[in-house]
Amino acid sequence: MLDSAYPIDLYEAALAVLHHSYSPYSEYKVACALRTEAGDIFAGCNVENAAYGLTQCAEASAIGAMVTQKTAVAIADVLILVAADEPASPCGACRQRLMEFALPEATVHMCSVSGAYRVSTMQALLPLAFDL
Ligand code: THU
Repeated sequence: MLDSAYPIDLYEAALAVLHHSYSPYSEYKVACALRTEAGDIFAGCNVENAAYGLTQCAEASAIGAMVTQKTAVAIADVLILVAADEPASPCGACRQRLMEFALPEATVHMCSVSGAYRVSTMQALLPLAFDL
């Protein structure tokens, strides 16, 4: 799994919303697409604010879209796409956000529009995650 290519359908879902990114302050566009265990795909982008700390990451937007639809909310696969040369690894807060819904074997694909690609798992990105 770790050597496989990124899933094209998740990439296309992220690419479709990447240009919606509201990022006038960082000028760093991020999109996230996730696939639920049931096979549904949800996407979101980052939404910044003049009060910088209120910025919402793309992962949070995608999770919000998924939960709002009220279908299955177990995440099997995540893809993060950035309009930059290098792929981005999810921030610490978003690792915890994703872990809330991630299946134990959930895969995280990190892509850039220039074609760079990394892959990891939720378990590797957030070992010993907090849970109740
Ligand atoms: N960002 C995300 O959308 N997801 C992450 O996991 C890391 C950072 C966004 C937040 C901000 O709009 C921009 O990237 C620069 O930090």
